[in-house]
Amino acid sequence: MKTGYLAPEGFEEELAAELPKSAERFDRLFLVDDAPQKAAWAQNIWHDLEVITFASISDAAKQLRIRGSLWAFYPFQYVRKGTLIEKKLPYFSAKPLSFPCSLPKAPLGSWMILNENTLLASSQCSSPFPHGAPNFVQTAIPPSRAYLKLWELFTLIGTMPQAGDQCLEIGASPGSWTWVLDQLGANILAVDRAPLAPEISSLERVSFLQKDAFTLEPDSSVQWLFSDAACYPEKLLRWLEKWLARDTKAHLVCTLKFQGKGNEAILKEFEKIETSRILHLSHNKHELTWYRPGKF
Ligand SMILES: C[S@@+](CC[C@H](N)C(=O)[O-])C[C@H]1O[C@@H](n2cnc3c(N)ncnc32)[C@H](O)[C@@H]1O
Repeated sequence: MKTGYLAPEGFEEELAAELPKSAERFDRLFLVDDAPQKAAWAQNIWHDLEVITFASISDAAKQLRIRGSLWAFYPFQYVRKGTLIEKKLPYFSAKPLSFPCSLPKAPLGSWMILNENTLLASSQCSSPFPHGAPNFVQTAIPPSRAYLKLWELFTLIGTMPQAGDQCLEIGASPGSWTWVLDQLGANILAVDRAPLAPEISSLERVSFLQKDAFTLEPDSSVQWLFSDAACYPEKLLRWLEKWLARDTKAHLVCTLKFQGKGNEAILKEFEKIETSRILHLSHNKHELTWYRPGKF
């Protein structure tokens, strides 16, 4: 069995470090002769890869159509030929998503051309978005583009704060996550050493504390706990452990920010936390998003 792992642009080395050394690389795509394994840095996983030989452009399209109806071409090589094959497949355009929205239901396959008459295809990819990247209708209102991380996460996990929910957000400045939470009707206590943008701090449901967030003690009234704080993941984990020791029921959403290589040990510590998962959002930079569902 072959599995493909697509790295986010610029994070190929991080993904390679998680995969067996024998992985074959095609630019951002890594092929492994084995069943799928966990890979936090993969933006899309191509399951059950098939090597398909084709006689012509029409034949390639026909063989893909037999296996699935929607396909995203990974244009690593043979771009012209791939584009001609694409034209013979059912038309697929990833319509920009208007948040909040549910995940596209139709499975989306991925394929690439290996050589003149061979292609590699998976009709079962882990992401319903082309190459793992959702395309949201963007808005110019929030103070930074970080709001796209929350939109992407909420869309992927299929849940988000509801009107009236109590959120604690640390590392909140300038406030684009706060803006997302406010738009959902949640109440937010935002904490940062730096001030929020004035248009965010003046929102009715937003309270703000200007201080070191890691001095805060666990609070059982919190239903959603968010951290996008710029800090070492180790520091964040030591603080979260206090919440976990009190058996917090809150949904926990944290960005794990890395400075260089060699983060495997701390990643494992986060991974070990029951029911949690780690993912690389297409809107994450050199960071991963850790999520532990709420226990309500
Ligand atoms: C990437 S920014 C957060 C962006 C924010 N999520 C948004 O959407 O606008 C990281 C923030 O973490 C804050 N930060 C870092 N260490 C902190 C600490 N110990 N306590 C409070 N805030 C902290 C920084 O001041 C900075 O504003």
